[in-house]
Amino acid sequence: MSDPTNPHIQNRTTPQWGLYQRENFWKPNEGQTPPFNTDPRKLEERAKERLSEGGWYYASSNAGMSTTHLANRQAFFRHRIIPRQLIDTNSRDTSTTIFGHRVAAPIGFAPIGINKIYHASGEAAVAKVAGELQLPYCLSTAGSTAIEKVGAANGPGSPRFFQLYMPHDDELTTSLLTRAWESGFDALILTTDTWQLGWRHDDVAHSNYAFYRGFGADLGLSDPVFRRRCTEVGIDPDKDPVVASAKWIDSIWHGRAWSWEKIPWLMEQWRRISGGRPFVIKGIQSVADAHKCVEYGVDGIVVSNHAGRQVDGAIASLDALEKIVDAFGDQIYVMFDSGVRGASDIVKALALGAKFVFVGRLWVWGLSIMGEDGVRHVMKSLLADLDIFMGVAGFNGVKDFDRNILESDPKSYTLLPEREL
Ligand SMILES: Cc1cc2nc3c(=O)[nH]c(=O)nc-3n(C[C@H](O)[C@H](O)[C@H](O)COP(=O)(O)O)c2cc1C
Repeated sequence: MSDPTNPHIQNRTTPQWGLYQRENFWKPNEGQTPPFNTDPRKLEERAKERLSEGGWYYASSNAGMSTTHLANRQAFFRHRIIPRQLIDTNSRDTSTTIFGHRVAAPIGFAPIGINKIYHASGEAAVAKVAGELQLPYCLSTAGSTAIEKVGAANGPGSPRFFQLYMPHDDELTTSLLTRAWESGFDALILTTDTWQLGWRHDDVAHSNYAFYRGFGADLGLSDPVFRRRCTEVGIDPDKDPVVASAKWIDSIWHGRAWSWEKIPWLMEQWRRISGGRPFVIKGIQSVADAHKCVEYGVDGIVVSNHAGRQVDGAIASLDALEKIVDAFGDQIYVMFDSGVRGASDIVKALALGAKFVFVGRLWVWGLSIMGEDGVRHVMKSLLADLDIFMGVAGFNGVKDFDRNILESDPKSYTLLPEREL
């Protein structure tokens, strides 16, 4: 198995992540500690066993009939990678840069709300692992741990970004941005596909909205402006946290769409507070909207359909990526998410022109299965998967991933059941 005395390891600029495979092959494998099976289908099964009913429904549910989720997976399936042989990959490097940060790999932790329904350790555990691995972490406005605590857990100098669900209360918005900046979150990512949750059958049928049961309002309950808003209407957030929590979630998932006219104000606020750090829009799926982002001077976009949780019957995020990169890939920093389940998916997205990829459900399943250890195992496995992929498929760095390494067959869409993909 991979030789830990391989002299090339010393010359590499990034770790030999692939040795994590060796480490796991040597373990007693008693089932109580990692390794657990990181095949995404097995991860999902095991997470389901561990989670409360509500936790499982919230994490797994998609909009409507899950057809967007299915399309996301099918789109990966129709692109195939062409491996190369006898390339000297001994000094390969998995790293990249994002917004001025050198990071271990082009992989980030997508913003995911209310982590404490998956594991009591919540966002702090996830942010800690991200910091350790030097992968960017993104905190959701719907998180269940205060911004300041998450920043501290992520650690000094670790790259972290703040995802905004924008309230209709400008003072509250600027308070959140200021707290994020002061806690070391140095890019702002505005999510524009979720003025309220999409229609997700399981959640509705089970009245599954933890936010109305007192969970997931920590960013609000720790915010001076939001606390003032509570007292203004006679709610004491300390004595009546459940009512305050419901008010919080109704302030950020308010169902009142913002429009483009508000973007310059938000960019101006963020640039003023942060001294000009990047402003990103997450949720872009059309070339026309990418064009708007360029026109408005947005620094980056995340091509995302929220893992298929918002609009049922939508196009695959990977298909959107291809078209957007063709049109504006040289004018704006393009990131990608939705449906990534392994290193080869990351490589396909980068080959199609994304500069950086976020993963969501993969680490949610790890968190659900074994808290901090679970997240670490899943993400180290993903890094090992990428490192080994590069070693065996003949690639030396992120720069090697371009369209020439793909063969794409539009007819190879598959009708496999979604859970098999
Ligand atoms: C359970 C769950 C919660 C999420 N919460 C948020 C959120 O609070 N803010 C946000 O911008 N996106 C949220 N997303 C979307 C993710 O940021 C990301 O776009 C998506 O999960 C990527 O797809 P993947 O899970 O297939 O990797 C959530 C996704 C899931 C699965």
